[in-house]
Amino acid sequence: MKLEAKHKTPERILLYGDPGSGKSRAAVDVARAATGRVLVLDTDYSSSWFRSIDAHPELADTVEVWQVGPDDWAGQIRAVTEMTKQAGGGDWVVIDSMTPTWLAVRTLYIQRRYGDDFFDFFATGKDKQMSDADMNWNAINSEYSRLYRAVFGSPAHVLLTAEADAMTTVTQSGKQVAQDRGIKTHYQTIGWKPKGQKTLAYTPHTVIWLNKDRVGGYYMTTAKDRERTEIEAREVKDFSRDYLMRVAGWRPVKDAT
Ligand SMILES: Nc1ncnc2c1ncn2[C@@H]1O[C@H](COP(=O)(O)OP(=O)(O)OP(=O)(O)O)[C@@H](O)[C@H]1O
Ligand SMILES: [Mg+2]
Repeated sequence: MKLEAKHKTPERILLYGDPGSGKSRAAVDVARAATGRVLVLDTDYSSSWFRSIDAHPELADTVEVWQVGPDDWAGQIRAVTEMTKQAGGGDWVVIDSMTPTWLAVRTLYIQRRYGDDFFDFFATGKDKQMSDADMNWNAINSEYSRLYRAVFGSPAHVLLTAEADAMTTVTQSGKQVAQDRGIKTHYQTIGWKPKGQKTLAYTPHTVIWLNKDRVGGYYMTTAKDRERTEIEAREVKDFSRDYLMRVAGWRPVKDAT
């Protein structure tokens, strides 16, 4: 069933959860309900998007997949720039997953800074001894913000996925870092936060945690949602129906299949 949004404001949705919790499947549900184009950046080698298109051949008409390696920041930012240039209102831009992009931009920084010593750097475990002072976070965050600007500046709907991360982060030197207030407010009751650059947890209007129980039920819980009913452990069978229609107020398109 094809769906259309109730309001003009485009969606900005982040789905996060453990591997196998149904993030990519939920994004495919959205793609199947989309009336416009769906431009997907696939940053892992699982080919799950290609398998989904095999399973639902009609997706090939609307879905375009950019597959870029998890550690290839230059390729990722190039793909996102191109996708967001092409996507208009009513289209969807999907990044599945955001988590590798943050690792990729940091790795590129280390590579540029340490040049020929780069491999030695990882091979001898020097990366594990790095402190915050070794990293120019302003430069790294500024490079990374190109991705946010492209994505959140787009008139298209945006759907991002991310892995789940523990609430207490331990730095590579073993130091425990306290969570800031904002993270606690949205994520403490769930017990997991999105894994990636810090502002990923705040910037999307909608953040939903997905999880799976042992007998094959899939559930969604709101971490953050603007002006919409917050849901807890609600079963997901088809994310487009269970979230877009029932929570976000999307409606079936009348004269469409
Ligand atoms: N709501 C659902 N109902 C039935 N099956 C589901 C549901 N959600 C996910 N699945 C199935 O569970 C498996 C894992 O789902 P999916 O690939 O979407 O997980 P993921 O969160 O994207 O994992 P990863 O982090 O590894 O990419 C798939 O075979 C998918 O078809
Ligand atoms: Mg996936």
